[in-house]
Amino acid sequence: MFPKESYVARRAELRRRVTRGGIILLPGNVESPVNYPNNVYHFRQDSTFLYFFGLNLPSMAAVIDIDSGEEIIFADDLSMDDIIWTGPQPTVAELAARCGVSDTRPLAKIDEVVRDAVQRGRSVHFLPPYRAENKFFISRVTGIKAEALADHISVELALAVVSLRDKKSQEEIEEIEKACEIGYMMHTTAMKMCRPGVVEREIAGAIEGIALQYGAGVSFTSIVSQNGETLHNHYYGNTLEEGRLLLVDAGAETVMNYSSDFTRTMPVSGKFTQRQKDVYNIVLAANARAFELSEPGKLYRDIHLEACTVIAQGLINLGIMKGDAAEAVNAGAHALFMPHGLGHMMGLDVHDMEDIGEKYVGYDLETKRSTELGVSALRMGRRLQPGMVMTVEPGIYFIPAYIAKWKSEGLNAQFVNYDKAEEFCGFGGIRIEDDLLITDTGNRMLGKKRVPATVEEVEEFMAQYR
Ligand code: GLY
Ligand code: MN
Repeated sequence: MFPKESYVARRAELRRRVTRGGIILLPGNVESPVNYPNNVYHFRQDSTFLYFFGLNLPSMAAVIDIDSGEEIIFADDLSMDDIIWTGPQPTVAELAARCGVSDTRPLAKIDEVVRDAVQRGRSVHFLPPYRAENKFFISRVTGIKAEALADHISVELALAVVSLRDKKSQEEIEEIEKACEIGYMMHTTAMKMCRPGVVEREIAGAIEGIALQYGAGVSFTSIVSQNGETLHNHYYGNTLEEGRLLLVDAGAETVMNYSSDFTRTMPVSGKFTQRQKDVYNIVLAANARAFELSEPGKLYRDIHLEACTVIAQGLINLGIMKGDAAEAVNAGAHALFMPHGLGHMMGLDVHDMEDIGEKYVGYDLETKRSTELGVSALRMGRRLQPGMVMTVEPGIYFIPAYIAKWKSEGLNAQFVNYDKAEEFCGFGGIRIEDDLLITDTGNRMLGKKRVPATVEEVEEFMAQYR
C-alpha cells in the first residue's frame, strides 16, 4: 500500500469534487467461483476501491458521507473457520487504519446506513457495477432494481473519480514503471523462446509465470499468436512455423495492481523476410509518430488519425492502398487494415476505468466517440493532460474475411487495391505497443529499457538465443 496519507488525501479530494452531497457507496469485489463455491478465480479487487482505500481483500465495502465527512469501512473480522481455511488476517480495524479510516462496522450494517440515506432522500452516489455480485449488492441496499441501476449511476461521482484517477501521481508512476519492468521480462522471454516447433502455449505459460513471479499476475489475458490478425486471440494451440510472425500482447500487474501493456511482433525464424520488414516498419513509424505528437493539450483522436495516416501512406507505398493518404483516412479506408484504436489509458486497470464508462473516461463534453469508420473503435479521444498514462499500439492486420467483405461490397474501392491486399492473406498481423506518460512538456516512454522494437533490435536480440 501507499502511505495512508495518500488515501486520506484522495478521499478528501473526492468529497470536495462531488458537490451535490449525500453518500458515496464504494463496494469492493467479492470472491467469484469458477465451478463450485470454494474454487475461486484469482481475486482481483475493484480498482476504484483500491484507489481510495488500498485494501486488497474480498468482501469489503465503504461509505463516504460527503456532508459529514464520515468514512466507514464495512467488513467482517475472520471467523475461526476462515482462519483455519484461509489463514489469519489483521482485524478490519487494523486494516482500515492503514488507509486512515477509523470507523469500521460489520458488513451487514451497510444495509441500514444506505437505507437510512435513501429514506431521508439523500443522494446515494455509486459507479456502474460491472460484476453481477455488486449489481445484486447495490440493488439490495438501495432498493433499485438491478435492471434499472444503469439509470441511477452518479455521473457526478463518475466524473470526480475519473478526474482524480486519470492523472497519475509520482508514486503511481513508479508502480507503473515496475509493471513495465515485469513486462520487459515477459516480452524478452517470448523473444528468447520463439522459434519453429515451439507451441504458442509454451510461451504463454512462461510469460504468464513471470507476471506471477514478480507481480500479481497478468494485467489481461495474454495474446500469444501466430494468427496476429485476430485482435484478441486467446488460442495458444498452434505450433510456430518457419516464415510466420508471432504476435505477443501481454502485460503484468504489480502486487499493488498497477499495469503494463506491451505488444511485440517477431519473426518465428529470428529474421524478418523483406515483406515482413516492409509492413513492420510502417507500424513502427506509426508508433514513433504517436510519440512525436503526444503532449498536453493534444486530442488523442488527432494523434490516432495521424498514426493512421502513416499507416495509409505506408500501405500506399506498398501498393496495398492507393490514392491520397489523408483522403483515405478521412474516408476510414485504413480501418480495413487497422480496425482498432491507437490506444487507451492505463493505470490500476490495463484499460483504465473503462468500467466507469467510456463517455466519462475516454471522451468528454468536447469529444464524443464517433460512429465513423476509422475512429469508431478508438477508446480514448480526448485531450491529453500531464500525468495521463496511455498506450500507443498501432497495427496492420490482414484479416481474410474482412478483406473479402469489403471487396464484395466495393467499400472504399478507390483507396484499396484488393488484388494486392489478397496477396497478404495468411501474412498475419503486426502490432507494436508501448506505454507513455504525458509530462508537462511532452511525453516519456515508460519502462527503464524499451523492449527491442526495431527490426535490427528484434533480430539481434533473437540471434543471441539460437
Ligand atoms: N492489450 C490488449 C488491449 O489493449 O486490448
Ligand atoms: Mn493495449
